Amino acid sequence: SVPSSSEPSSSQDVDMKRIAQCDNTLGPLHFSKMHTVLVDVDVFNCGAGTIPQDGRDVWHNDFVKMPFSLSSHMKTGYTKQTNTVRWEVIYKQLRSLSKKKTASVKDLEDAIINITQSTKADPNGSNYSPTLFQKIAELALRLPELVKKAVPLLKRGHPAAITLSQTQIACLLANAFFCTYPHRNFSGPKAEYHNYPSINFTSLFGNSSSRKEQKLRAIMHYFQEVTAKKLTTGLVTFERRCLKDTDLPNWRSCKKKMHKLHVASHGTIENEGEGMLQVDFASSWIGGGVLGSGLVQEEILFIINPELIVSRLFTEKLGTRSAPSSFSNYSGFGDTFEWKDPHEERLNRDEWARLQRQIVAIDALHFKHRSEQYNMIDVTRELNKAYCGFKAHQSNEPDIATGNWGCGAFNGDKQLKAVIQLMAAAQAERDLAFFTFEDEV
Ligand code: AR6
Repeated sequence: SVPSSSEPSSSQDVDMKRIAQCDNTLGPLHFSKMHTVLVDVDVFNCGAGTIPQDGRDVWHNDFVKMPFSLSSHMKTGYTKQTNTVRWEVIYKQLRSLSKKKTASVKDLEDAIINITQSTKADPNGSNYSPTLFQKIAELALRLPELVKKAVPLLKRGHPAAITLSQTQIACLLANAFFCTYPHRNFSGPKAEYHNYPSINFTSLFGNSSSRKEQKLRAIMHYFQEVTAKKLTTGLVTFERRCLKDTDLPNWRSCKKKMHKLHVASHGTIENEGEGMLQVDFASSWIGGGVLGSGLVQEEILFIINPELIVSRLFTEKLGTRSAPSSFSNYSGFGDTFEWKDPHEERLNRDEWARLQRQIVAIDALHFKHRSEQYNMIDVTRELNKAYCGFKAHQSNEPDIATGNWGCGAFNGDKQLKAVIQLMAAAQAERDLAFFTFEDEV
């Protein structure tokens, strides 16, 4: 039976299992071959906070190529071009920006142009603190001291995880803001990172629009928060999940039943689904159009939780799972999206100082023609995809909060996709809350 609710509800009205009720013991934080930890685990496990894990820069295809790497050069000079270490140029530009008493959008634009040598920056908005750009520049300059250990790329077909501090994320994002990442401004099949999403904020600054204006307001608010407060205690884990062929169910013979299903036409995954495993209706390029004009469920999720954007730095095409923190509230969807006000974080943290929030990014198929989606190859692909996202890691995991996955921008059939998700949840032996987003039919 399906309990249906059309009354507005708060997260507490929805009787589902949330992370706080799961009571899983994590034990001390530790790193392994599959789990890179960018903070010193011994210091962390003694309760002495987070300091960066020592390490060395690695200029290699399996790791993020850092802007401060001595192997990274760029051509400088107009008449006589010389090869200069990239970080020298970045340092000079950001240092002089950070020393300015007041920095205008024009100063920011000049700094970014000099770093990327090609980009037009045009950040909209007028209500930033007069010293915000300087503070972001200072934060970006701390990269060599804050992220010493090489950051591995989360590659296709290789399950792996990265844990890092919120300060490290803020610093990595400050570098994205100033477009400092090398080899990341090119696209096309021959580009080195052609299989990775964009990370430099170039596209967010170019071709301004009201959508981008709202996005920049939320991002500026994030930087205002992280540069004003010391966010040294919190950690975030990004994890890439993959299933082996032998882990895939034979869907024709599955007999498992759903235990509990909550369906509501009111409420959203992020509010009423708080503390549950929240589904990100993802693009195979994690974050989708978050740095461009896209503004549906995934992009909104990434804009209200800007820490998620850092996943674009290291995630090769397809899904991750993460536990970031939420900074902003919003209203609307698509063109009606409007940044509203700061969000007070109510969530507790787990033993590893991570907010009790789990988000799983699963990318549905994009159907150009609706009729394409009923063949068994595509249905099985969607079943396996949802199952991979839903499958529990340990015995006691929260229930799943989802909705019209793949049924907006990706043109899926709501009924079919709902059945697919119910089957995947039943097979994963997890209960499910389904938010239909005002659809009462
Ligand atoms: N809570 C519950 N349901 C929601 C919410 C929410 N917060 N937001 C939207 N919905 P869509 P897709 C419902 O189009 O089709 C992005 O660009 C609402 O009914 O975001 O999987 C990604 O990066 C909406 O129509 O997901 C991908 O490229 C429906 O969910 C692409 O879009 C689907 O939302 C994914 O498209």
